Amino acid sequence: MRVLSGIQPTGNLHLGNYLGAIRNWVRMQDEMDADSQCFFFLADMHSITVHEGREQRIRNVRDMAAALVAAGIDPDRSVLFNQARVPAHAELCWLLNGTARIGWLNRMTQFKDKAGKDREGASVGLFVYPVLQAADILIYNATHVPVGEDQKQHLELCRDIATKFNTDFGVELFTLPAPIIPRESARIMSLRDGTAKMSKSDPSDMSRINLTDDDDAIMTKVKKAKTDPEPLPETAEGLAGRPEAGNLVGILATLTGRTTDEVCAEFAGKGFGAFKPALGEVLVETLRPIRERFMELRTEDAALDAILDKGAAKAAAAAEPTLRAAYDAMGLMR
Ligand code: AMP
Ligand code: TRP
Repeated sequence: MRVLSGIQPTGNLHLGNYLGAIRNWVRMQDEMDADSQCFFFLADMHSITVHEGREQRIRNVRDMAAALVAAGIDPDRSVLFNQARVPAHAELCWLLNGTARIGWLNRMTQFKDKAGKDREGASVGLFVYPVLQAADILIYNATHVPVGEDQKQHLELCRDIATKFNTDFGVELFTLPAPIIPRESARIMSLRDGTAKMSKSDPSDMSRINLTDDDDAIMTKVKKAKTDPEPLPETAEGLAGRPEAGNLVGILATLTGRTTDEVCAEFAGKGFGAFKPALGEVLVETLRPIRERFMELRTEDAALDAILDKGAAKAAAAAEPTLRAAYDAMGLMR
């Protein structure tokens, strides 16, 4: 098993990033047996599709690395690096640009969402984003790729590119990866609006729990979270049409490894006055150790860079045979 996943290094890390992505990686790492390997990287080359200043980009990469380590990614067990330190990703992406079809990319819903109405004004990078993602995966012959539901289409495209390359050049070079999408796919919603995703770009800081929030801030945000006047239902079905209640119950269920039914059963008939302190308590206890390590690590730039350098060296070595074989299959002499 070769597990691989990437995350865009965006600033302002929050509970959604932790429960939606980072925690799943830590779990996969911890469940690995001796023959398996995990590759986790910061997709900084993908982040050029978002305009950001130089200093901010540098900070974001280091912060995301600090958050991953603080959350439990062990750079001695997993290969942890940023894409820009491993040029093989960009090189393979270019080769795959000869294989990927415009028609395939035109169907990508993430491009349509992100480009919005002004498609002509979108960057070429945003359009070919999924080809770089395919390169990220294929260069390591990854077998399992833990991602959110929204990345399923990119994984299918990756398989299509791999199949076409193998067929076109008569090789069995690329392995077809399988997406690993968590069953209870944690989609954490805003604390102010249960129909909007918790997001770093929400203007209200009360809408999210940041990885940097202290115990008091977490408690206050939970207590002020929007709810409805009804008591908690006996089963998850009773949460239908109650997005804010559903979100809070979902967060507690995810944090404690229970189903929403089980959480409902515990609080059935009680109001949010009883539920919120319980949720706040679990959040505080879960996030405190991560926050403490994160705050410490993010001040240690040299140590973070050393971790990424070391990971990049391992990644580059693992990528090299595939890259060489891809050039060779195409008759490109290096
Ligand atoms: P973003 O900052 O939106 O690029 O997200 C970085 C990672 O965190 C991606 O893997 C997202 O799927 C995940 N993520 C971001 N926001 C949420 C959320 N509200 N709920 C669950 N996962 C999220
Ligand atoms: N596109 C992914 C996201 O937005 C991040 C990503 C980049 C990725 N390359 C990857 C995920 C390779 C898995 C494998 O979440």
